[in-house]
Amino acid sequence: MYPDERGYFGRYGGRFVPETLIPALMETEEAYRELAGDEKFQQELQLYLKDYVGRESPLYFASRLSENAGKARIFLKREDLNHTGSHKINNTLGQALLARKMGKKRLIAETGAGQHGVATATAAAAFGLECTVYMGSKDMERQRLNVFRMQMLGAEVRGVKKGSETLKDATNEAFRDYIRSFEYSHMVIGSVVGPHPYPMMVRDFQAVIGRELRRQFQEQEGGLPDCIIACVGGGSNAMGIFYPFLEDPVKLLGVEAGGCGTAPGQHCATLSRGNDGVLHGAFSRLLQDEYGQVMDTHSISAGLDYPGVGPEHASLRERGRVDYVQMSDREALDAFVQLCRMEGIIPALESAHAVAYALKIAAALEEEKSLVVNLSGRGDKDVEEVARLLGGVGNGN
Ligand SMILES: Cc1ncc(COP(=O)(O)O)c(C=O)c1O
Repeated sequence: MYPDERGYFGRYGGRFVPETLIPALMETEEAYRELAGDEKFQQELQLYLKDYVGRESPLYFASRLSENAGKARIFLKREDLNHTGSHKINNTLGQALLARKMGKKRLIAETGAGQHGVATATAAAAFGLECTVYMGSKDMERQRLNVFRMQMLGAEVRGVKKGSETLKDATNEAFRDYIRSFEYSHMVIGSVVGPHPYPMMVRDFQAVIGRELRRQFQEQEGGLPDCIIACVGGGSNAMGIFYPFLEDPVKLLGVEAGGCGTAPGQHCATLSRGNDGVLHGAFSRLLQDEYGQVMDTHSISAGLDYPGVGPEHASLRERGRVDYVQMSDREALDAFVQLCRMEGIIPALESAHAVAYALKIAAALEEEKSLVVNLSGRGDKDVEEVARLLGGVGNGN
């Protein structure tokens, strides 16, 4: 059963943190292991997922998109329809419940696109906890709507004007805060990254996506899908939908952000172009220069703009179980517009990367195959940015 007791997925993972943080991580791991087997906790979580988040999220057959794309039958797992607009809430609710059980009064989060920040602020409000969210200044600008949402929900948003002013820098600051305040705070990491037990815990909270998909696909179509496609930033929506299918004959594809080129600083294709290293408490794959300095990254989507990736993905890549590919800013933008026009669904720019790859596969297929895309979030937060990139609303053709 992955990970092992030290938090390793094969040779990736572990707990590379200052000694002062070890007691907090051990406390979290112990509490999580206890609650994972506790029927009452699981029932409470299920109730919140159903009545508060609105699960289960539908599995929608995108008929017009499929018809236009080629031979594929393309299905969308509609995480965009969750309360707060993305898959992030599956994890933050679980972790907020855990924090409450541990007697913590305050949640700390890092955020890129702002979706994890909004989902954490939401869970904090629902459980009466204080909330501080760290966000890079560049991300605050391009995801302004989510900054207002977090503030409206009662969270304090602390802008980070360091480094590339994106998710990596926000995560550094959130860790600094956690080290100072763990006696009364819980850090809600938003992806399958960070030191053990986070990659395991976040995966488990997100695996509800894959479990639902398995049942829904069986009921709607019979059998298993041929292929499941998800975008990969840190990797939580992908891990959540892949995990229940790891032992099945289903092709699993993770789509990273290819950005605007292959030169350093122009993309954030960590698994495709990075190498081994330690970032934010775990040994994984990482974009770094020859001196081990973490490189700047670029993506049109703030949620994929991260130089690291979860250790379980690094291991799945090494084992050859999951293939990781890249889609560029342009391809994601084209897919964004296509999904709007063909299906009346405005996707998050992150999810648009996965849609783009589905369209690419569909165009090359010689026989019919079923492709499931994890539509990880909705695109309201991106509307302003996309309008700017397209040179105005209505110029999407
Ligand atoms: C809608 C959406 N999809 C995907 C991601 C990427 O995160 P992950 O790879 O952990 O799913 C984000 C991150 O902010 C997001 O907001």
